Amino acid sequence: MQTQPPQALRICRAQQNDAAKIAALGEKTFFESFAKDNDLKDMHSYLSQAFTTAQIRMEMAEVGSVFLLAYKGQDICGYAKTQIGKADTSTFGPNPIELMRLYVDGSHQRSGVGAILIRRVIEMGIEDGYQTMWLGVWEKNVQAQKFYQRHGFDVVGKKQFVLGQDVQTDLIMTRALSHTASH
Ligand SMILES: CC(C)(COP(=O)(O)OP(=O)(O)OC[C@H]1O[C@@H](n2cnc3c(N)ncnc32)[C@H](O)[C@@H]1OP(=O)(O)O)[C@@H](O)C(=O)NCCC(=O)NCCS
Repeated sequence: MQTQPPQALRICRAQQNDAAKIAALGEKTFFESFAKDNDLKDMHSYLSQAFTTAQIRMEMAEVGSVFLLAYKGQDICGYAKTQIGKADTSTFGPNPIELMRLYVDGSHQRSGVGAILIRRVIEMGIEDGYQTMWLGVWEKNVQAQKFYQRHGFDVVGKKQFVLGQDVQTDLIMTRALSHTASH
């Protein structure tokens, strides 16, 4: 029997007509990752505003927002979103850009998709002249914190994140954007 070679991963910028697929992947991954530790009412309230096609379309049209997609064959298996200017970032470091979303479909996690996406996001940040990348990660999402640490991010503070009616704490992690700091 012949073994098929593993499908290569392709990273590209999203187009407006990808919005529905991005919304579906975001909703699925967020639900699978966080439903077990949260009230379902809070989850549904958040999902119904954060991951609709209309919401993603609106975010894609915002100045300074970039969506990167990871494709295996015809399927989107992960995405990252960066944005600028949505929070008071004065203490995070010079000239910051936010890594706002990074989601890999459950069936593709722990196979290096996230690593390829985040490396590309970091390279893009450097190419575009940003000096600091920052993100918020739920304090209970230890697996993602480890992942970000492995990619050069350190915890520098905390901020609130509201999921439905639940006020939660996100850790703020940052890393310098320079070729010498690349991992
Ligand atoms: C966090 C997340 C983006 C990471 O993406 P990923 O594709 O799973 O990341 P990778 O496969 O590159 O690495 C994940 C881990 O798997 C390990 N790994 C990578 N390839 C592997 C392989 N072939 N076999 C076993 N382990 C592997 C890595 O060493 C890494 O370990 P670490 O977490 O200690 O660094 C992804 O798990 C995800 O979407 N999680 C749910 C949503 C989420 O929490 N997003 C972040 C919100 S802030």
